[in-house]
Amino acid sequence: MRSKIIIRAAVMAEQQALEAVQLRASLTNDGDREAVLANPDAIRIPLEQLAAGRVFVAELNGETLGFSAIEPRVDGQIELDALFVEPKIRRQGVGRLMVEYCAEVARKQGSTALHVIGNPHAENFYLSCGFEQTGTIQTRFGVGLQMRKAL
Ligand SMILES: CC(C)(COP(=O)(O)OP(=O)(O)OC[C@H]1O[C@@H](n2cnc3c(N)ncnc32)[C@H](O)[C@@H]1OP(=O)(O)O)[C@@H](O)C(=O)NCCC(=O)NCCS
Repeated sequence: MRSKIIIRAAVMAEQQALEAVQLRASLTNDGDREAVLANPDAIRIPLEQLAAGRVFVAELNGETLGFSAIEPRVDGQIELDALFVEPKIRRQGVGRLMVEYCAEVARKQGSTALHVIGNPHAENFYLSCGFEQTGTIQTRFGVGLQMRKAL
């Protein structure tokens, strides 16, 4: 399956559909459900991020499997800003494929690492993708894991 997956830049018209993917994916994290439902504004893909070509869709036979987004940081490094896979297609390598894609984009843009503030639910996923934890940070929804993947 992995070899047939296409990763492409998202288009602006996909904003709502991708936000729906994000909502479905976020609701599967035990303990996050209440906070997600109480704060619908947290599920938002900025139009400027879409317009800048920093949102990437993973697609198989025209069906969206998930998406990722990157953002430049003030220090010039690249941050993985979003990563969501449709619940029905989990553990089939889609998340890893999108991390690899974002890492390559970041490397081409001169970043020496891909950074992420990881949801603790995704810790094992990020570790498996080659990230190391560098610290923790308080986010709006609890503790986030500061992680980096050397490029
Ligand atoms: C985290 C997420 C993106 C992973 O996507 P995925 O496509 O299921 O991940 P992959 O299939 O590429 O997993 C790669 C490896 O990560 C690890 N992994 C992934 N999910 C895991 C889990 N729930 N528990 C333990 N290890 C996990 C495994 O080692 C896996 O390899 P394996 O299946 O061969 O054992 C997906 O679960 C998701 O969208 N979660 C909800 C949203 C979220 O928390 N996003 C992160 C925000 S920081």
